This record gives sequence, C-alpha cells and structure tokens, in this order.
Amino acid sequence: MASVHFEVLRDDQLIEVLNEAATLFSEHYGIWGAEAEKNLGTFATAGRRVQMTARRLRAECLPEAADNIYVRVKVNGKLAGHVCATRWMLDGRKACWITQLMVARKLWRRRLATGLLLKLRDAGDHDGLGVLSSHPATILIALQACGRALEGVDSKLIGDNVRAVMACSPVSYVRKAKLHGKLFEDEVEDGSVLCVNTHFYVDHREPLEALQEVRKSGHTWPFGELPEGHEFLVFVKTRTEAW
Ligand SMILES: CC(C)(COP(=O)(O)OP(=O)(O)OC[C@H]1O[C@@H](n2cnc3c(N)ncnc32)[C@H](O)[C@@H]1OP(=O)(O)O)[C@@H](O)C(=O)NCCC(=O)NCCS
Repeated sequence: MASVHFEVLRDDQLIEVLNEAATLFSEHYGIWGAEAEKNLGTFATAGRRVQMTARRLRAECLPEAADNIYVRVKVNGKLAGHVCATRWMLDGRKACWITQLMVARKLWRRRLATGLLLKLRDAGDHDGLGVLSSHPATILIALQACGRALEGVDSKLIGDNVRAVMACSPVSYVRKAKLHGKLFEDEVEDGSVLCVNTHFYVDHREPLEALQEVRKSGHTWPFGELPEGHEFLVFVKTRTEAW
C-alpha cells in the first residue's frame, strides 16, 4: 500500500522546496494552447509544456513578504502534489487565495487535490477562499473544501466583494486579472459568466473535457463558458459572520 503524507509549510520553510515544486509544475501542468505564441511569444509555442522555475513560482504564486502557505503531499516519499496559497487582509477580514493546485498526472482522481485543500482549510483562519483556474475540478474541489457544491456558489457575494478583494492581493496576476462575464459586464457575447482574463493561454482541452464530465453528471455549471486566455473565478465565504 502506498504511503501518503501531507505536510503544511510556512513561508520560512519554502526556500528549500521551491525547485522541487517548480519541477512538479513543469512536468505535469499542461501545454500551451493555439493562441499562446501569438499573445505571449515564441516560448509559448502550441503543444509545448508550460514551464516553471523556482524563481517564477516564488514571484507569481508565493510572493516575498506575503502571508503564504504551501501544502504538499508525498506518495511513497516523492512529491505528488501541492497547493500554494496567499492570505491578505481587507477591512478586517482575511482572504485566502489559491495560487496553484497541482497533482502529478499518474495520481489524478485519487483525491490528493481534495486532501490538499482540506489541509489548507484546517491550517487557515481565513474568512474567504478564492481561486482562478481554467480547470473545473479545481473550482469544484475548492467549493467542496468549504462544504459547498456547485449549487452553493453565491454570485451576489462574488459580485459584491471579489473586485475589492482581488484589487489588494499581493499576488500580481490576481490583482491585475480583468473580471469578465455576465456577472460583471452588461454586454457579454461569449457565454462567460464568472471569469477573469489572465492572458494565460494554456490549452483548454483537458479543462473542457472535465467540464463536459461535470455537466454530464447533471450539475449546472454557474461559471459559463471559458474563453481563451481566461480562467474561471470562484470566491467562497468560509466563516458565516464574514463578508
Ligand atoms: C485539477 C487537479 C488538481 C485535480 O487533482 P486530483 O487529485 O485528480 O483531484 P481529486 O482526485 O481530489 O478530485 C476530486 C473530484 O474533483 C472532480 N475531478 C477531478 N478531476 C477531474 C477531471 N479531470 N474531470 C472531471 N472531474 C474531475 C471529481 O468530482 C473528483 O471526484 P471523483 O474522482 O470521486 O469523481 C489535477 O487534475 C491537476 O493537477 N490538473 C492540472 C493542473 C491544473 O489545472 N491546476 C489548476 C490550476 S490552479
């Protein structure tokens, strides 16, 4: 039987794990999509694996001087998945934002991502949890870790609060992401409802297959369609009295 070990690391323990974490991403995340090279440059040729370095992971997902948290899971002693998250305060409330959730491909659908987010939940004292992701499973798992299902997405809470929450994030791609979709704009023609434009042109085939599976299982997907370069957005209240 495989040994599965979850571990929560704080910011001062991160230096020694960043290289291994970046390698996990580079080997397992996904490939650039058809629009990537045109928008981002030749490093993002369609079909090439999206690469990560320790330095970029630090800068983009676990920024210096921020209140970061990193949870990893090892299977038989080898890094098998991780979640990076950053917390910040807004009007006396603490937001926790997942900046990366990854599991090694051979170990997908074994509830490792679910386990990571449950550890993140238990390690934190935050009032709200947010994530941007092209992968519907990340959205589902984040909701489930907060005791919600798709039907429990609170569009009013998101519409009323998420712009202000994201605007003061220490994570630059979250701060700069442009809200998109029917919840935020009057004229939307691409079917998106709860989305952001992060200009991250990763190939959407895997996320869209996952979305098909979610829709086939009878659930209503409240986030709408996923345009190229965009990611779904969810924000959930994690304490009843907050927000
Ligand atoms: C998304 C990801 C983290 C899920 O990890 P995982 O460990 O396989 O997820 P879990 O096993 O905990 O899945 C829990 C539930 O989520 C849903 N789910 C997970 N992967 C799914 C998929 N590919 N398609 C449809 N539903 C999926 C299912 O409901 C699943 O429960 P079930 O297997 O009992 O049906 C993993 O696929 C991954 O690393 N993907 C690439 C990276 C990525 O896109 N990350 C998000 C960017 S922030």
